[in-house]
Amino acid sequence: MSNAVAEAPAADSPVQSFLVTFIVRRFDPEVDEEPRWVDYDVELYSTDRVLDALHKIKWEVDGSLSFRRSCAHGICGSDAMRINGRNRLACKTLIKDLDISKPIYVEAIKGLPLEKDLIVDMEPFFASYRDVQPFLIANSQPEKGKERKQSIVDRAIFDDTTKCILCAACTSSCPVFWTDGQYFGPAAIVNAHRFIFDSRDDAADVRLDILNDKEGVWRCRTTFNCTEACPRGIEVTKAIAEVKQAILRGGS
Ligand code: SF4
Ligand code: FES
Repeated sequence: MSNAVAEAPAADSPVQSFLVTFIVRRFDPEVDEEPRWVDYDVELYSTDRVLDALHKIKWEVDGSLSFRRSCAHGICGSDAMRINGRNRLACKTLIKDLDISKPIYVEAIKGLPLEKDLIVDMEPFFASYRDVQPFLIANSQPEKGKERKQSIVDRAIFDDTTKCILCAACTSSCPVFWTDGQYFGPAAIVNAHRFIFDSRDDAADVRLDILNDKEGVWRCRTTFNCTEACPRGIEVTKAIAEVKQAILRGGS
């Protein structure tokens, strides 16, 4: 394991590469009884991201390394993982923002069943998402040929929670979710918030009822892990608090 400069750059080279050590928590259910940590030294540039390092390992060292990714630009939400103990998107984590004098630890997000290497079973996460009815429910039709109108002020009320990309970084950073698989988790509440406070929607009461459950918002212990983990900068804890207040008020 070493973090030395990979090779002396040419005198006129403006860009220097580094050998960075990654310690990845691997698990192959067909072979391993328990996950194991494996070291890789990867030559990288400071402009590279953790996703680039994982690609290098997979394409040049060990093709069996398994992880999800799609867009590689922070939009699809498929590459949330724990990097040095923090939930982050691998495609949004620049090597230059990490301390490469030490190994970089990479492992799957917590609280969801581990399938292989950095891949978890997302089904419990999406089941909670589906439970809160994350779609517009309106009792009336818009005027023929017209859109449903909404003021700028009304739209702003839930603007923050429209940004969710369902990466699960928030939910899988929540200690309540780790210890209690029954909790809906922050992401489901964020996506309920997005419709509860939408002036065009008529089912806020239904969603508030669902979240006023023993598995709902009252499990939240306001640890702010979710807000810190969110790669979209959503104020997750604030959204959960607003849903709690709406339940106490008896409506949005
Ligand atoms: S609220 Fe943020 S962290 Fe949570 S699922 Fe959505 S984008 Fe990911
Ligand atoms: S690969 Fe799509 S968000 Fe990272």
